[in-house]
Amino acid sequence: MSENLKNSATQIVDQLSGLNEVQAITLLAEQFPGEVTFSTSFGLEDQAIAHLIFSNKLPIKVFTLDTGRMFPETYSTWSRTIERYQQKITAYYPDAVSLQQFIEEKGPNSFYESVENRKGCCYIRKVEPLQRALKGNKIWITGIRSEQSNNRHDMPRVEWDETNQIIKFHPILDWTWGQVHQFVSKNNIPYNPLHDKGFVSIGCVPCTRAIQPGEDFRAGRWWWEDSSKKECGLHVHEEIKIESN
Ligand code: ADX
Ligand code: SF4
Repeated sequence: MSENLKNSATQIVDQLSGLNEVQAITLLAEQFPGEVTFSTSFGLEDQAIAHLIFSNKLPIKVFTLDTGRMFPETYSTWSRTIERYQQKITAYYPDAVSLQQFIEEKGPNSFYESVENRKGCCYIRKVEPLQRALKGNKIWITGIRSEQSNNRHDMPRVEWDETNQIIKFHPILDWTWGQVHQFVSKNNIPYNPLHDKGFVSIGCVPCTRAIQPGEDFRAGRWWWEDSSKKECGLHVHEEIKIESN
């Protein structure tokens, strides 16, 4: 079954080539009815995609992973998004027992002590809930852009996620930060006010800070760690590049 899905990824690359973001998402929704889902962290990129989905009433399931440690500004962006579009956003939460055990054993801020603890926290608060969110879907839409990090420079718009056995689609992969800003501003899309205070990539409060001009887009995420380890496990590098026919 997964092998079939993986094989159909090549066809999808060809079908999507030359289509704009809305046309591409529409085509995926037609080919995989009820099996296409978009993950939002309410960052600027995700707000642009949410606007495309919601304002065009595209039949895509939208979800967020509420880690419990997000910024108050992120929760208010979430509320304003519901008010503006009046459409459903499903929230996934960490497993209560796993989280309780982890906090009892390690303390609430153990992520600063080791990469292992940090990955443990990200696993419980994001990765495991993500697995639940992706279950039953064939296409996962994200707001990843090439410009965000070295790891993301050579990513293709369509890839096979071996870990989650799902096809990933990054509709605005090639957009620049300036283009995202312009799109959000032109369409009056609600956005996280932290973006106006030097925050570019926004995750959990204890693990995110503003960046200085000229710094890497993701320099404010887990800033105390070696840059090669800076992914939380949502996007591991086991994705497989799909070659077009
Ligand atoms: S992360 O791997 O560092 O956490 P990043 O913040 O760059 O990811 O976001 C990349 C994409 O991952 C977002 O566009 C979104 O699709 C997804 N994503 C990240 N965090 C969340 C979250 N908390 N809930 C849902 N999706 C998320
Ligand atoms: Fe935990 Fe920080 Fe990962 Fe959030 S980003 S889940 S607080 S380690």
